[in-house]
Amino acid sequence: MDKLLIKGGRELSGEIYASGAKNSALPILAASLLADSSMRIGNLPHLKDVTTMIELFGSMGVDVALNDDMEVLIDSSQIKNLNARYELVKTMRASILVLGPLLSKFKQADVALPGGCAIGSRPVNLHIDAMKRMGAEVVIEDGYIKASTKDSLKAADIYLDPVSVTATENIMMAATLAEGTSVIRNAAREPEVVDLANCLIEMGAIIEGAGSDKIVIEGVKKLTGCEYNVMPDRVETATYLTAATMTGGNIKIKGTVPSALDSIISKLKQSGANIQVGDDWISLKMNKRPVSTSLTTGPFPSFPTDMQAQFVALNAIAEGNSTVTETVFENRFMHVQEIARMGGSIKLQGNTAYIEGGKTLKGAPVMATDLRASASLVLAGLVAEGETIIDRVYHLDRGYERIEEKLNFLGSDIERIS
Ligand code: UD1
Repeated sequence: MDKLLIKGGRELSGEIYASGAKNSALPILAASLLADSSMRIGNLPHLKDVTTMIELFGSMGVDVALNDDMEVLIDSSQIKNLNARYELVKTMRASILVLGPLLSKFKQADVALPGGCAIGSRPVNLHIDAMKRMGAEVVIEDGYIKASTKDSLKAADIYLDPVSVTATENIMMAATLAEGTSVIRNAAREPEVVDLANCLIEMGAIIEGAGSDKIVIEGVKKLTGCEYNVMPDRVETATYLTAATMTGGNIKIKGTVPSALDSIISKLKQSGANIQVGDDWISLKMNKRPVSTSLTTGPFPSFPTDMQAQFVALNAIAEGNSTVTETVFENRFMHVQEIARMGGSIKLQGNTAYIEGGKTLKGAPVMATDLRASASLVLAGLVAEGETIIDRVYHLDRGYERIEEKLNFLGSDIERIS
């Protein structure tokens, strides 16, 4: 199993490009199932989750061709099998995103129940309830969500409690081909929801309000394929900016979306980073030890839970004490113990981490437990004295494209070993 060997203590400097967003690529791939004709999706990141989704399509008999530029051509008109198998769903919960499109277009979907995962129980009740509200018959049998409808799905007025990103996306996709006008209230406002809506609109859908908490979708008879490039990955950009805030240096990220990163930029500035922003780039200079900054995660536009772990690493070395409170997932603090093993001083109480900053981290063998926790360990390794070995790197490969190549380009010393 691959590991990363990080020799810490180097500043980061230079320019890199942002990759396409995982959390946009997955729903947009799922949306291609709604199209009557073939669809070309570009700017896909080279990531395990993207290949898992493509593998899932392959297992359903969808015609998929991928070229070297990670552009994918998808034609689902000859789909043979409306079944998302457990072996694939268990490695990627976002497979649930095929439920809405399959049911709406092909009137049937059998999707394995994702089950628990390292960061909490992560139920899918909102997805199932919404499909029922739209007229589908849904039974849970043999670990599968078995959903079907005789006629087209019917529009519904759905309030999401709690707000959920993939549930918003699933319902929005299902509603595009439903009869009548659907409303999603307390909808997720994440930029990736807007990206998906823009793609669906290109395909012929009628959607208003994406990016607000009320999305209105007027059903249409059919959607056609289009060419669409997925937006840049804001979590990837934010992770590299946080890395440079910790190591010091001077980096620029090009081809990114500054407007989607307001909460992060504001926190990094509080930590002492000097940040400049252009239309599609962000530069960051840091020439001192960072200052601690307390935060609470929440749905967009609040501070993203996907950046919580990286900020725990930042605050562990920053001057001063801080608290980091997680409100989105119940068990997303698996990185705390590992950062503590490297010399961080962190106490967990309920959903809050109390961090005594100003520590010098020491390299150690550590274990990645989930995607973003793994990223926080890479950041800790970059500033630690000596060598850090991160085990179970496959978590990182699910969500960060060529992470060691990009960081080494900026001056780090990371080697992939087996
Ligand atoms: C998405 C992102 C993930 C991010 C998360 C929160 C994708 C592919 N993944 O995950 O990277 O960490 O948003 O920003 O976009 N919930 C329910 N019932 C449901 C669904 C969700 O109670 O049916 C709860 C969850 O347990 C959680 C909260 O809603 O407490 C938010 O989760 P949700 O927004 O659904 O996360 P995902 O869409 O799975």
